[in-house]
Amino acid sequence: MATAVSLFAGIGGIDLAFKQAGFDVIWANELDKFACMTYRNNFTNVLAERDVKSVNATDVPKADVLFGGFPCQSFSIMGYQRGFNDERGNLFFEIVRIAEKMQPRVILLENVKNLIYHDNGRTFITIYNTLAELGYFVKYSILGASTHGNIPQERDRTFIAAFSDFDMINRFEFPGEIPLTIGIEDILNRSFKEDDFFYYQPGNKYYDTLNRKILDKTGIYRIDDSGIATNKYTLSPTLKANMGTYHDRVPLIRDDFGIRKLTPYECLALQGFPRDFKFKGIPLEAAYKQCGNTVCVPVVKRIADNIYKLFKE
Ligand SMILES: C[S@@+](CC[C@H](N)C(=O)[O-])C[C@H]1O[C@@H](n2cnc3c(N)ncnc32)[C@H](O)[C@@H]1O
Repeated sequence: MATAVSLFAGIGGIDLAFKQAGFDVIWANELDKFACMTYRNNFTNVLAERDVKSVNATDVPKADVLFGGFPCQSFSIMGYQRGFNDERGNLFFEIVRIAEKMQPRVILLENVKNLIYHDNGRTFITIYNTLAELGYFVKYSILGASTHGNIPQERDRTFIAAFSDFDMINRFEFPGEIPLTIGIEDILNRSFKEDDFFYYQPGNKYYDTLNRKILDKTGIYRIDDSGIATNKYTLSPTLKANMGTYHDRVPLIRDDFGIRKLTPYECLALQGFPRDFKFKGIPLEAAYKQCGNTVCVPVVKRIADNIYKLFKE
């Protein structure tokens, strides 16, 4: 069976997709305590809970694939365009350090859409050239949850696939677009009363405005810097890690009982996670942050399927 190791594993969205595609995920690394708790609740493989900078590359088991959605704050517009000057941007070079030692046949990286535009493309060229210098052939693409994963969330991400094998890269294709057949109403249940905590209550500073502005039970909204935003009725706004810090940034809906935030499990469903994936024993803030940090699983599954085929052919 083809094997994989996971860096910056978070709650294991990429891990889950690779497992679904048939890979044996044998080892993972993650620093955040609560992300590790969620990971361990849902996976049985080894998880090294520590700073990747302290991981000895010789301790990482050899595997066919190395993957990681390295921290994206430094590359997203929200991260003030600091790129590689930011400590978190430099974590890309930790992947390089480990790949150099373990020599995986495939490296799959995930990051924000903005990665390829950052610093007039210089950041991306550095990543590309570094992988090429390591002996890898590189393909990249921007894939969206709604366009490539049949998931109604606005979420475009950059994926970089690097192959040590010339034949493999020539056989590999990123998955193409597929129709969106799942709507937000297939994921949300507006006639089920959630815990009071999720509802805006009288006295809350946003209560009156939200109740005046959000009248329909079909839309999905979010409070952002310009007020109440709604993009399209068919797609959820992008789930972001800042939902953990600022609860008011969690997408909102009107249901039969009032106006409320999506629950962490609804957020997970909007990332294409299965219902048996569980949060246990972690603060709500951490659960929201984890939902914003993770990937749209069906998109990654389609990429992983295409990689898996290369090991079979
Ligand atoms: C964008 S998230 C990746 C999420 C993951 N793909 C998932 O499905 O949940 C980046 C992750 O890198 C972790 N991280 C940040 N700095 C780290 C470090 N120095 N060592 C190990 N992990 C780190 C964060 O805690 C976060 O979970």
